[in-house]
Amino acid sequence: MKDQYQALVVRKGENRTFTYGIEACELENLPKGELTIRVAYSSINYKDLMSCQGNPAVTRRFPHTPGTDAAGEVIQSTSTQFKVGDKVLVYTYPMGMNHNGGFSQYIRIPANWAMKVTPNFNLEKAMAFGTAGFSAALSIDQLQKYVGDLKGKQAIVSGATGGLGSIAVAILNKLGCDVTALNGKKETHDFLLEIGARDILDRQQFEEDAPQNLLSQKWDIGVDIAGGSILSRMLKSMNDNGTIAATGMVSNTSFDANVLPFILRGVKLLGVNAESADQPTRQQIWRKMMGEWMPENFERLYHVITLDQLSDTLDAIFANQHQSGRYVIDMR
Ligand SMILES: NC(=O)c1ccc[n+]([C@@H]2O[C@H](COP(=O)([O-])OP(=O)(O)OC[C@H]3O[C@@H](n4cnc5c(N)ncnc54)[C@H](OP(=O)(O)O)[C@@H]3O)[C@@H](O)[C@H]2O)c1
Repeated sequence: MKDQYQALVVRKGENRTFTYGIEACELENLPKGELTIRVAYSSINYKDLMSCQGNPAVTRRFPHTPGTDAAGEVIQSTSTQFKVGDKVLVYTYPMGMNHNGGFSQYIRIPANWAMKVTPNFNLEKAMAFGTAGFSAALSIDQLQKYVGDLKGKQAIVSGATGGLGSIAVAILNKLGCDVTALNGKKETHDFLLEIGARDILDRQQFEEDAPQNLLSQKWDIGVDIAGGSILSRMLKSMNDNGTIAATGMVSNTSFDANVLPFILRGVKLLGVNAESADQPTRQQIWRKMMGEWMPENFERLYHVITLDQLSDTLDAIFANQHQSGRYVIDMR
């Protein structure tokens, strides 16, 4: 094992300014934890972007290494549950918030944040799903529990070019849904059609004020990453017994609602919190993601970058000049 490793470090400057870059770090300064892991792959999630910008709702202690996700191999263990050489995934837990995270060649974490996987588990694909993909799959699993077979259902997905939304579109398409993608960028329409959207709606138009309590009925299921006026409009436009999984808040944490969709159409609103999923649920969802739910054209849904390319990629994301889909970081 080397004494030093490379990681992305976010530093706090004067007047609450934050900068990030790749630095050499000392292994002896890794946080306390039962497992030391050599990271093979990580990925970029929404929370990591908030952490890079110094958002205090996510990270309060700097210097800091973000990274909610990591996949790699255990190289030291004081836990009876894991041994050296085990392959593991770490995702959805507080890693990367106030505990140094996966934008790093090595991490040290509590054992209960790690999920053991089989030796032949594809770690690159696992990180292409990552927290965003797991949350998309968990949302769809929840929808199935309420709606039953999703084949032929009319579905709507917001944030469809983003991490969670794009994987939701692809899995719903695989399950036979007719998927409408809500989207804010015209130049991404080809991408959305390729990953399985049948129809694309302009996000700004969708958000336009609709004072009515109910709108014409269009969808059986919805996956919403936005909150705010997008969730309000979805609720008013669901078919009878329509069901929405509320997963995110990129537009607004609050939203206006009235009771008519619930009491006249039996609409249901499900909350999804990936972090609280128990181990049996996680194992069952991963089996589906890596098996029958794996999108046909999965490689189209993500880009692999190296750790050296991470700072430039983050700059592009913040400048809104990035590609659609997920970013996997190859740490090797
Ligand atoms: N519940 C959970 O357990 C869980 C787990 C993971 C993530 N999340 C949440 O899910 C959300 C999305 O995460 P992500 O990883 O998919 O993020 P992401 O990759 O950054 O994608 C966000 C997408 O939102 C759309 N968007 C941007 N601004 C918007 C606005 N003002 N109104 C509506 N849509 C807007 C954009 O898509 P278009 O240009 O296509 O519209 C963008 O690609 C975040 O709020 C995150 O915190 C929740």
